[in-house]
Amino acid sequence: MAGLARWGPLIVASAPAKVILFGEHAVVFGEPAIAAAVDLRVHVGWAPSQGGASTVNGYPLTDQHHAFMVNALRLAGVEGDVTMTSASDVPSASGLGSSAALTVASVAAGLASRSVIQHPLDAAARETIGPLAYEAEWLAQGGSGSPTDTTTCTLGGGVLVDSVAGAGHVRAVTRGERTWHLHGLDIPSDWSLVIGNTGERGRTADQVARVGRLVRRRAFARETVGDIGALVRQARKAVQAADAGKVGALMDRNHNLLAILGVSTKRLDRYVEVARRSALGAKLTGSGGGGCMIALTRDPARTAADLARVGAVTHVVRLGAEGVRMEPDSAMAASDVDDRLL
Ligand code: MEV
Repeated sequence: MAGLARWGPLIVASAPAKVILFGEHAVVFGEPAIAAAVDLRVHVGWAPSQGGASTVNGYPLTDQHHAFMVNALRLAGVEGDVTMTSASDVPSASGLGSSAALTVASVAAGLASRSVIQHPLDAAARETIGPLAYEAEWLAQGGSGSPTDTTTCTLGGGVLVDSVAGAGHVRAVTRGERTWHLHGLDIPSDWSLVIGNTGERGRTADQVARVGRLVRRRAFARETVGDIGALVRQARKAVQAADAGKVGALMDRNHNLLAILGVSTKRLDRYVEVARRSALGAKLTGSGGGGCMIALTRDPARTAADLARVGAVTHVVRLGAEGVRMEPDSAMAASDVDDRLL
């Protein structure tokens, strides 16, 4: 940390957290999903190594402990030792895409260190960052997962992932037999979302593997994945029609289907139930097994207070935050470094 304080990072990139509004897990099997960036961010700083070894936040940067960042830097073409820093508003392993945001910001910092991309980032730069970040995340998760999280953290705004290309198409990603078409999707900017964090941590790769086993072995799980897909198609129309009431009702149903897949927990179910007293709808978000739930609400103060009363750590967030961006090199000075993220 002494070196860091003396020199500071020379290049800083940041990427937003994301929430999955609809379709997590089912998207891994080719069903559609809708996600949005939210205004909590991960910052990553890059500087050349001060002491002949790569570090992050003053600790050795290793494959074992920092697989997302190490893969991101390698795929960004960074060679030699580096002094990395990270700072985050995003709770880790909580379904808000902290790993994806870290990976996206690390790719951006790595590419910028080689002058492959410049400030301010344009669409072409994001097109370079997105696929590399997905590859880095996919490798770090042992070759699993869809491009939903890294795409949302890269592009920002709202994102529709679908098996077919339609309006707002950005690009397609193929892994094995699966092709995901990535689209921008407008989400009404006046919608308020309350996030309730259980503090229980669920690793995405573990949850994806669990659901994968269930889907291979059990017909009910395959049917549930199909039901989620049908629900997301309705949700897309409701989002486009800015029909918040309908979106809320579909969120409730999506949560119930995720519970059938076994990725909810008692605490998530409880928070969802409590939020529904004042919200239009509520569901777990992300891979589950702990982590966060989200509630779409016209009264964020009341929904957040109700959730806090039963023990949730809450955030009221704006949907559709800006995607990955380069920051002034002073951007990290005031942030707390969260080592637990890595
Ligand atoms: C995790 O945020 C979303 C999942 O659908 C996994 C993925 O899409 O890679 C559970």
